[in-house]
Amino acid sequence: MIFFLDTGIVEEIRTASEWGIVDGVTTNPSLIAKTGRTQKDVIKEITSIIDGPISAEVLSVDVKGMLREAEDLATIHPNVVIKLPLTEAGISACKILAKQEIKTNVTLCFSPVQALLAAKAQATYISPFVGRLDDVSQDGVGLIREIRTIFDNYGFETQILAASIRHPMHVRDCALAGADVGTMPFSVMKALYRHPLTDKGLAQFLDDFNKSKK
Ligand code: G3P
Repeated sequence: MIFFLDTGIVEEIRTASEWGIVDGVTTNPSLIAKTGRTQKDVIKEITSIIDGPISAEVLSVDVKGMLREAEDLATIHPNVVIKLPLTEAGISACKILAKQEIKTNVTLCFSPVQALLAAKAQATYISPFVGRLDDVSQDGVGLIREIRTIFDNYGFETQILAASIRHPMHVRDCALAGADVGTMPFSVMKALYRHPLTDKGLAQFLDDFNKSKK
């Protein structure tokens, strides 16, 4: 499973980059707004930290505006992936960018037929929002499973990027469901390492070793 960090906070990205398991970064307008910096400055700094796909979202709602923003964002770094909303305009822009071999990440996906549209538009990634579906008592991981089945039925190459991940069990369940990528907050990625029995076992090993030296 490919791991992306879902954040605009470069300090988190610097710390996690040392773990050796971060493959890329996703951002969105809310995450960028939290930094108090411009999207361009944040994305540029992220590309200097992580050598992998870096998703930057357009804010325009029309095709022309999206393509204009995409052209500008793509100049930041070859690793920049253009994030587009799952709307008619977003899907149209996705198809045009795909023909230009610009990587795309179609976001705000909440149904399997929306994902089908993104795959037909040759999106590089599709981002189903697992946590936000769970938040309204719908089956977020079930959506990943359905998209996986549909994509495998037709041989679509679009990568399923499980997003809106809230905790390690989402990572587990999305991996079991066949997501290609999981994007997660820093806190969730950090939590993947934790298990009380690991901590307890290590403490016991060290304690037994130290006792044996006496
Ligand atoms: O960045 C896309 C997605 O991962 C955000 O999810 O629900 O945590 O805002 P959420």
